[in-house]
Amino acid sequence: MSDCMLRLQSVTKRFGTTMAAESVSLEVGQTELFALLGPSGSGKTTLLRIIAGLDAPDEGRVLIGGRDVTRLPPYRRGIGMVFQDFLLFPHKTVAENIAFPLKMQGKSRAETADDLKWVSQLVRLTGLEERYPHELSGGQKQRVALARGLVSRPSLLLLDEPLANLDRELRKRMEVEIRRFQLELGIPFIYVTHNQEEALTMASRMAVMREGCLEQIGDKLALYHRPATAFVAAFLGSPNTFEGDVVGVEDGRAEIAWHGHRFWSRAHDGLAPGLRAVCYVKSEKIAFASSGAALAGRLRDTIFKGQYADYLVCLDDGHEITVSAAPDLCHRPGEAVGITWAADDGDAFPAVGKE
Ligand SMILES: Nc1ncnc2c1ncn2[C@@H]1O[C@H](COP(=O)(O)OP(=O)(O)OP(=O)(O)O)[C@@H](O)[C@H]1O
Ligand SMILES: [Mg+2]
Repeated sequence: MSDCMLRLQSVTKRFGTTMAAESVSLEVGQTELFALLGPSGSGKTTLLRIIAGLDAPDEGRVLIGGRDVTRLPPYRRGIGMVFQDFLLFPHKTVAENIAFPLKMQGKSRAETADDLKWVSQLVRLTGLEERYPHELSGGQKQRVALARGLVSRPSLLLLDEPLANLDRELRKRMEVEIRRFQLELGIPFIYVTHNQEEALTMASRMAVMREGCLEQIGDKLALYHRPATAFVAAFLGSPNTFEGDVVGVEDGRAEIAWHGHRFWSRAHDGLAPGLRAVCYVKSEKIAFASSGAALAGRLRDTIFKGQYADYLVCLDDGHEITVSAAPDLCHRPGEAVGITWAADDGDAFPAVGKE
């Protein structure tokens, strides 16, 4: 990467027998909003703490702007950090909370005035500087935490689940705001979340973490539409899962036999005729079809979600499949329906331990 700002080289961190980070290598560009997504305990916070210098890796190196900072203390790395639980000082005003990192650098109140003004305007807190945290809404508190992370004009901002404590509406608004800050500042943000919707909304590139390893890194659309592993295929979106037998493999596609039905799917490494396969198909990639349908069944229920609906289709053999589509399709419960999907919209992987 030509404009690489952060580089992790084979970073490993163990806690006793737990591998919290296992040989993680990663590059983040100069102006990227990069999301680190993974289930609880997968090592996301561990990686951020290593980047920030709050923890030292057992092995590997951290480079910022081409400089090896692995042994530098946090305050010499030029990094801002925002945590999930805000960690505001209750007895300090908004201004004092925001200016705290500058005070730690030994700057006087007069010296910090310009920075304070700039960052208060950026995160829209102007006018609230003399309030105390208990006099603020959840969204305003989160803005104070963001302002504190940005006030020392870091070259990189780390955010660890910064919106997890906010309600849905506020989260949506703050997601847009954080994107705006990132664009205005033009510095990389590394955004940790276990919420896939948040990662997909915010990021340009992202990585999915699993048990201390980066399972897949890339453009968010590539991860969503072209998952490289079964874990990523199952983790992103809400896919339907079919476990069946591989009948044949041809030109990168596998034919799968599943409960008397047959369909084609993209074949990932390790599939061969006679093996068991797990196939993932995202619900929005399945369509209703009057002719040429791969599978037939009856509509059991329609769950209205606003901009779309989940149609629950009970196949003739009793299996249930979810189809996400426009909310106003005129299907009635009990109606016979056919469903189909394109071969390239399914991802088949070897079924672990079942071949
Ligand atoms: N200080 C510590 N001592 C011992 N084990 C730790 C420590 N910090 C983290 N771990 C372990 O390392 C693993 C990764 O933890 P980490 O906090 O990085 O996960 P996470 O992906 O941030 O999870 P969450 O989404 O729940 O915040 C977990 O198994 C955790 O129990
Ligand atoms: Mg965490």
